[in-house]
This record gives sequence, structure tokens and C-alpha cells, in this order.
Amino acid sequence: MAKRARELVAEGKPVISLALGQPDFASPPEALAGAVAEVEAGRTGYPPLAGQKALLEAVADKFRQENGLQVPLSRLMVANGGKQLIFNAFMATLNEGDEVIVPAPYWVSYPLIAGMFGGKPVIVPSREEDGFRPDPQKIRQAITPRTRWLVLNFPNNPTGAILERADLEALAEVLREAPHVMVMCDEIYEHLVFDGQQALSLLQVAPDLAERVLIVNGVSKAYAMTGWRVGFACGPEPLISAMLKVQGNATSGICTLAQGGAAAALRSGSAGIKKMCATYQRRRDQVVARLRQIPGLTCALPQGAFYAYPGLAALMGKTTPAGRKLQNDEDFAEALLEEAWLATVPGSAFGLGPHLRLSFAASDEDLQEGCERLANFVASLS
Ligand SMILES: Cc1ncc(COP(=O)(O)O)c(C=O)c1O
Repeated sequence: MAKRARELVAEGKPVISLALGQPDFASPPEALAGAVAEVEAGRTGYPPLAGQKALLEAVADKFRQENGLQVPLSRLMVANGGKQLIFNAFMATLNEGDEVIVPAPYWVSYPLIAGMFGGKPVIVPSREEDGFRPDPQKIRQAITPRTRWLVLNFPNNPTGAILERADLEALAEVLREAPHVMVMCDEIYEHLVFDGQQALSLLQVAPDLAERVLIVNGVSKAYAMTGWRVGFACGPEPLISAMLKVQGNATSGICTLAQGGAAAALRSGSAGIKKMCATYQRRRDQVVARLRQIPGLTCALPQGAFYAYPGLAALMGKTTPAGRKLQNDEDFAEALLEEAWLATVPGSAFGLGPHLRLSFAASDEDLQEGCERLANFVASLS
């Protein structure tokens, strides 16, 4: 979709993209100053593999202040984004045929990375009626002796769902019955939550699981620092040590300038995050209200992250003005791009269709025009 959208733009078509998962804000000034300070201090040599002490300390303080977790530096590491941490963890732990339970909808990289190391993704679908929260009973049923990991990503990409205390308690109960299962909690959208809610961490609710929980987080989404490539993880020492072995033979420690910038961002307070979040919430309200007016679309209210995930079930089987028959959400997203110049991502890419993912990390003008194009496109179907 992204490639086709670029081709259409090159052909001069007025494409609007609501496909990207990238904040449309500048990185905080503190981060820029933090990177410059690294240069000025001459810290341009190979960094320590697990991360510079100043960054690890900022991460430990973050976990203490924001998540109520006391974490020694030996349980922490930084990597080139949350993505490398997931890669490190799966490479370090998966053997051929090991199962990785991934509730759907899911961020595309979990099953893909697990598969690279012989892991077998076991997809457990959730339902729009349940707010896209996984059913603990279904997770229980999916666990086998071969299960190595359960992946939890809340606030969720692509649905914006968050888990409440009762959800986490129910999942913790299931996990206590299966001591061989590790849990990857991807909390990268932790700060992007709406309506005064708070995203809880599994370990806040079930500290007894600490020896098998890996928290993956980073500065990409909360601080609008996607290009800096800084992620951080907290986990049991043997796992962190194995993940560091992987990283040591791949990329080594991460860019010192980026580490200085990330440490400064983490120390910069929450005012910048709150401002971005208020903007995302305003856009969410406008986008969801408009989507709900479109006959045939359903749209749950995202509680976090910056995506809307409207359902298309009632529109399947219809035909576009150019004669395309819409059999699934891929057909829908393709026709929407080719016939209405709006780029989105089909829900089947996230393991649960027929849906569309629309990012509201985009300008007000693009969001308004994008929603109008979608409404007109739906109205044109027969
Ligand atoms: C759910 C989720 N986890 C992790 C990442 C990776 O973020 P990064 O590698 O930029 O830290 C993303 C990026 O889109 C994401 O959506």
C-alpha cells in the first residue's frame, strides 16, 4: 500500500496518507540538546553494550516514577528501537516449533519476527464487541507445552484498546497456571491514553510474574522520536543477558548521541507528552464521530495510541464505481487508494478483518479531507 501510494504521488495524484504510525510532531528540544551535549563531551566512542549509565538510570527512574517498579540496572538494556528488543528476545529464546501466542489484532512484526527464528505464531482473535481485549479463557486454551511467549501490546496498535486492572488480573491468573510461558509486554504507547485513563503494566498488577515478564518500551511514540531509534527493556537478568549476546553480535551498543537525546527526553517531564496526547484525543473525537456517521461502518472508540480501526463487514461484497468487487478489506483499501486517493492499512495485515486502520497522527486538514474521501467512497458503492 505504501509503495503504491508513493507511485501515485509520483504520478501527480493528490494522495492523502493516513497509513503511517509515526507522530507528526517534532522531537522535544531537550532531546536535541541532549544529543549535542554528547558530541560536545566527546562521547563518540563505542558505547557500553547495555546502554550508557545516564540513560539506564533515566530508564530506571522512569519505571519507578511512572510504573511503580523498582528495577536494578542489571535488569535493563537499550536497543535500536523497541523493534530490536523484540528481535533480540525472540532470537535469544525461540527454538524451531516454539509457540508464540499473539492476540489479534496485532502489530505486524510479532508473528513475522517470531517466524524468522522458527517460532510458530498462535493467533488468538479478539472481538470488536469486547473492545478488542483478549479473552483470558481463549488465551488459556491456546497455551500448550510448546508455548514460549504470550505477547501483550496495550495500548494496542492497531485498535487503541487498553487493558483494565480486571483484565490484567484475569490474564495473570492464567499465566500463574502456566509457569513455562514468558510474557512480552509491549508498552510503547503507554503514554498515549485518553479521557484521563492510565495504562497499567502487568507487573503493577502481578509483581509475582517479574521473573518471566519482559517490558518493551521506547521513546519513539511518546516523545515523537521515531528516527532516533531508542528502545528500552526491563526483564529477568538471564533473559536480558541473552538478549545482550544477540545485540553484541549484531549492532553493538546504540548511537551515543541518540542515547544522550533519549535520556534528556525521559528527564524532560510530562508536559510535552500531555500536549501531544490532548491533540491526539481531539483528533480521535473528530475522526471517530465522522466515521460513525458513515452508513455501513462501525467504529469502536480507541482509548489510546493514535489509530482508528473501523469495521467494514457491512460493505463486503459491494462494487466500486470502477467495477472492483470488494471481497475483503485488502480489496477495500486498494480501491480506496486507487479510486479516492486515500491510503490506509487493511485490517487483515493486523490479523483481524474486515477493518481499516487509519492513523490520526496526521494534520487536521488531512484527517478531515481523508474522512470525507472515505465517506464519499462508501456512498459511491453499489
Ligand atoms: C506496537 C509497536 N511496538 C513497537 C514498535 C517499534 O517501535 P520502535 O522500534 O520505533 O521503538 C512499534 C512501531 O510502530 C509499534 O507500533
